[in-house]
Amino acid sequence: MKKEEIIEALNKRYAVKTFDKSKKVSEEDLKTILESGRLAPSSLGLEPWKFIVVKNEELRAKMRAASYDQTKVTDASYLIVVAYRTDSEKLVSEILERTAKIQNRTKEELAPLQQMLDGAMSRQEPGKTSWIKAQGYIALGMMIETASLLNVDNCPMEGFDPAQIDTILGLKEKNLSTATILAIGYRGLDAYASKPKVRRSYDEVVEVVD
Ligand SMILES: Cc1cc2nc3c(=O)[nH]c(=O)nc-3n(C[C@H](O)[C@H](O)[C@H](O)COP(=O)(O)O)c2cc1C
Repeated sequence: MKKEEIIEALNKRYAVKTFDKSKKVSEEDLKTILESGRLAPSSLGLEPWKFIVVKNEELRAKMRAASYDQTKVTDASYLIVVAYRTDSEKLVSEILERTAKIQNRTKEELAPLQQMLDGAMSRQEPGKTSWIKAQGYIALGMMIETASLLNVDNCPMEGFDPAQIDTILGLKEKNLSTATILAIGYRGLDAYASKPKVRRSYDEVVEVVD
């Protein structure tokens, strides 16, 4: 993909208010978008997230009621709930297990990594919730970008009651909680689509320190 094409796709992207319910994103595109979330970086490599694709229409109707009645919740092709882990005490042992298995390394070889991870975890805020939740937004950003490069319209969402969404999806029992939601689909007749993008200028946002 050429540089100009990337910027064009990102300029075309906007936070869709009205999706066309009759146009459906392919499973292949959905999978690519989710895969880009899975490949996202995370602090210490903990991957403290789960991406929950909600297809069930009844659940989506309930979620819409918990999301200030935003139509995108029922009309987008898919809703991807980015949930974060609430059982932070398990995350270090899990990454050590993953690393040992995937890189074929022994527990002894991984002792320095364990020490580093334990030290870094102990320096986080008590409960670690805001730090862990923040990781989910990195995956969100990657999925927004991938969707947009695939010409799949989308809208990130925080306009919902997380406690209600957690209850509707039974997340508490799974040691998860909702950070943010990504709706993906195709734009419908949406006045927002043609509005000029409101952004600070490049020079206001970028500062170069020589
Ligand atoms: C984390 C996050 C949560 C958002 N929540 C909502 C939302 O609930 N509903 C909505 O319509 N837009 C939501 N937005 C979209 C922003 O309002 C939008 O990205 C911003 O106004 C810039 O406009 P643009 O993305 O169309 O260029 C959210 C964006 C982000 C990044």
